[in-house]
Amino acid sequence: MKLWEGRFDKPVARSLEEFNDSLPFDKALWRADITGSLAHAEMLAKCGIISESDEEAICGGLKSIYEDIESGNLEMTGAEDIHSFVEGELVKRIGDTGKKLHTARSRNDQVATDFRLYVMWAFDELRANLKNLVEALCERAADGLDCIMPGYTHLRKAQPICAGHFFNAYSEMFLRDIERTAESRKRTSVMPLGSCALAGTTYPIDRNMTAAALGFEKPCENSLDGVSDRDFVAEYLFDCSLIASHLSRLSEDIILYSTGEFGYFEISDEYSTGSSIMPQKKNPDIPELIRGKTGRIYGHLMAILTTIKAIPLAYNKDLQEDKEGLFDAQKHTNGCISVMAELLRNITLKKEAMESAATGDFCCATDVADYLAKKGMPFRSAHAVTGKIVRWCIKNGRTLQDMTAEEYREFDNLFEEDICETVKAKACADARLSYGGASSASVTENLKSIKQRLKKL
Ligand code: ARG
Repeated sequence: MKLWEGRFDKPVARSLEEFNDSLPFDKALWRADITGSLAHAEMLAKCGIISESDEEAICGGLKSIYEDIESGNLEMTGAEDIHSFVEGELVKRIGDTGKKLHTARSRNDQVATDFRLYVMWAFDELRANLKNLVEALCERAADGLDCIMPGYTHLRKAQPICAGHFFNAYSEMFLRDIERTAESRKRTSVMPLGSCALAGTTYPIDRNMTAAALGFEKPCENSLDGVSDRDFVAEYLFDCSLIASHLSRLSEDIILYSTGEFGYFEISDEYSTGSSIMPQKKNPDIPELIRGKTGRIYGHLMAILTTIKAIPLAYNKDLQEDKEGLFDAQKHTNGCISVMAELLRNITLKKEAMESAATGDFCCATDVADYLAKKGMPFRSAHAVTGKIVRWCIKNGRTLQDMTAEEYREFDNLFEEDICETVKAKACADARLSYGGASSASVTENLKSIKQRLKKL
């Protein structure tokens, strides 16, 4: 049975029905839908639009439907969408009184309200999940405080850094994501209910009452915008996309650092996979899959942006296309976040390999130049002298660490005995005491601040 069949002579074509129906996917909104209807019925009674006994019957019926769906005793099929399903089920259970529920409401403001509620809850889910991920990163960062590794630019070794710095950098990204989800949630928390089909209603409704009951910050101020705005869907998908990009970068680093060539991380066996032909292989399928899922999440963002771009005011059926992409992005973004947290908790830092890599490839050359500059040589000239030293080392198979002070002095008289201590990788990292820098002292401060900020979010 259709909610709107009164006007039609013939039932809808079967082929169209399947094409038009959204119940197979929008049944995910059932909690939000029933919650919204409960608040609506209560408001209708408080405002004298329906009687208290009608409200009691309606709310009793809605609650029994809620319980039956939750316990798996009620299958959601046989209707156009979740809104028709719940209403039809209500009428089945309580009779004609159930038909009063849709007073002063349209499916247009109903679906917009349901979906916003759903997305507000989805933002909460993301936030909780991201917090767990940052906690896992903090554990790894604490583990890396006593160890150094090469920091990279252009994927070439650049300067030694405290290994905790690497993990803290990702915590900063995910902390921004948590903040962003909170800001997006706030904009989502504006209630369309009461916008009705497009123009509001002639009934004396109280929209502040329903907004407060449902946990919205306020009712929307324009009914046309209320029923047709899907910015919150685009925002949720953008937030997921940026989270996915951060996860993908982290995955890429984990994949690289766990190769034989780098050898900085060991992924535990339970989080690795093998090859059906090459017996020696230990593959990083998990971070690869996380990196790969970025594509579908970005895809859903592009899809909603395209769907909403030319919709005339107000509601149009195009907007039914707003849901599946979000559900998919929600499932995979949350899946990736929790798997990444688990993966991080199952990675071992190969501290010796990291430390020795941080010494090689002239990682400490900047510190040689800084040494000269601090003794009065202009930095540009110090850079040139150091460049010559590096060239000499390459030619003669030497390193900045095995050169003697006398050999340094051949290049410039400003060099003294302490140059040999200055070029040790750990000393180089730990000399970067600037605020936000890579010394273990600065990284310890950064970690402390990350934990404090995390607690507040
Ligand atoms: N299933 C629809 C959607 O998701 C519900 C709203 C239907 N409104 C309408 N006027 N046909 O958008």
